Amino acid sequence: MPALPGRLVTIDGPAGSGKSSVARELAARLGWRFLDTGAMYRTVGLLGLRRGLDFSDSAAVVRAMDAAVIDFDWSQDPPRIRLDGEAVDEAIRSLDATDASSRVASMPEVRARLVEAQRRIALEHGSFGLVSEGRDQGSVVFPTALVRFFLDAPVEERAKRRVEQLESAGMAADLESIRRGIRERDAHDRARAVGPLVIPLGGVVIDTGSLPMEAVVDRLEGVVREALGSVTAARATS
Ligand code: DC
Repeated sequence: MPALPGRLVTIDGPAGSGKSSVARELAARLGWRFLDTGAMYRTVGLLGLRRGLDFSDSAAVVRAMDAAVIDFDWSQDPPRIRLDGEAVDEAIRSLDATDASSRVASMPEVRARLVEAQRRIALEHGSFGLVSEGRDQGSVVFPTALVRFFLDAPVEERAKRRVEQLESAGMAADLESIRRGIRERDAHDRARAVGPLVIPLGGVVIDTGSLPMEAVVDRLEGVVREALGSVTAARATS
């Protein structure tokens, strides 16, 4: 892998740990760019749905992916993800696309292509500073990032957040079945052969369960600024 820019921070963690909003806010505070890698998996899922593909046929998904253009429009803030030039950032949030994204995320060939695309993005945009969020960013994609965070929260708290999200979107939500779903998904994600959910080596673990979002971001920002300060000091003395 070519040398990565020094201003790269990763945020890994399970669904419902709050990593997405935290990553966005951290990037805004640092004045850096933000990479939502989940959006890339979701767009591959949407592509499969639009082409009517069978999600048990990974070769077909990979062929469709190779024939499509998935990129971000970096002129927008936050950057908008595009599928063959069309902004799909809303379409990828549907329930169907969410299910499809989890199917394609377990395909090794899909992961290999997206990991390569994420590294390319870091090389192209890293000079601005980049906060990259996703469950394998520090553990697999950027193991040498300046700081590798792992956000976690108790299942109970993550289930409560999910119920609030669904209810505020006008959908019915049953806490018990959501709690069960989270436990099952965690077990599946941690056992996955490719890109499993693990704490990155040397990662900074933060429990977001008992803290408001602002306080979590304060903590992350402090760690990043300190790490940046150490890098600058080390350069000055060498
Ligand atoms: O974070 P999200 O819900 O937008 O992610 C969508 C899907 O992609 C979800 O099943 C997790 C998966 N994903 C992944 O496997 N690796 C990533 N780096 C990001 C997301």
